[in-house]
Amino acid sequence: MKTFVIANWKCNPTTQEGAGRLFTALAGGLSNFGVKAEVVVCPPFVYLPKLVDFLSVRARSQLKLGAQDLFWENKGAYTGEVSAAMLKDLGCKYVIVGHSERRQHFGETDEMVNKKIKAAISTKLIPILCVGESAPQRESGKMGKVLKTQIFAAFKNISSSKFQDSRPVLAYEPLWAIGSGKACSPDEAMGAAIFLRKCLGQLYGRSASEKTSICYGGSVNSKNAADYITQARLQGLLVGGASLDSKEFIKIVRRVVE
Ligand code: PGA
Repeated sequence: MKTFVIANWKCNPTTQEGAGRLFTALAGGLSNFGVKAEVVVCPPFVYLPKLVDFLSVRARSQLKLGAQDLFWENKGAYTGEVSAAMLKDLGCKYVIVGHSERRQHFGETDEMVNKKIKAAISTKLIPILCVGESAPQRESGKMGKVLKTQIFAAFKNISSSKFQDSRPVLAYEPLWAIGSGKACSPDEAMGAAIFLRKCLGQLYGRSASEKTSICYGGSVNSKNAADYITQARLQGLLVGGASLDSKEFIKIVRRVVE
């Protein structure tokens, strides 16, 4: 299984030139990171075509593209939305679904997350499903309940036979660790991952659960990155802030593959 290193640029940078510069630096610095990692860049929608063009003339680049969100209908009167079909046609391989910032700021519910997972899978986009608890939920002992509810709701009425070409990737992202500089300890991340795997086992059986990659996200940097892979035995990282600094992100990838 390859180790994922996923860059979530969120709503950054503010210019095409900035996006091009960042991507060029990443592609240059990661031209030979080997076959051990699957490095995925998820920029804002508007930069995707430019990055697709960039990759098309860099045949050797191993970077993959993902979107940060998708809409569940393929087309129609849905002003402002971007569909799975459009992302697939553009050349995306991955799509982030249910990031906590979408749940918090844009009212995304578990039902919407479920529709988005279904849309991604039926279009053969690989969903990167984000789940995680808030600080008050953790402190009041509700972490397990929150994670289980999110997982069961996200995969409601989806049979594992649908995963053949697009097995979902899970990202454990505790809300209190995102953008806070207070990363979750490798032990805590490992505990959460074991619990998530158990939930997947209940839904899909042990073998399907074991085939699923579980990543960690929340204040990942080049100093803590390797701990989640070697100590916590996770299958990847979802990197926000640190992915906007090409040197730091390249270091993270190197720590993970070395
Ligand atoms: P962060 O964000 O690395 O800036 O904490 C992670 C994420 O939200 O995916």
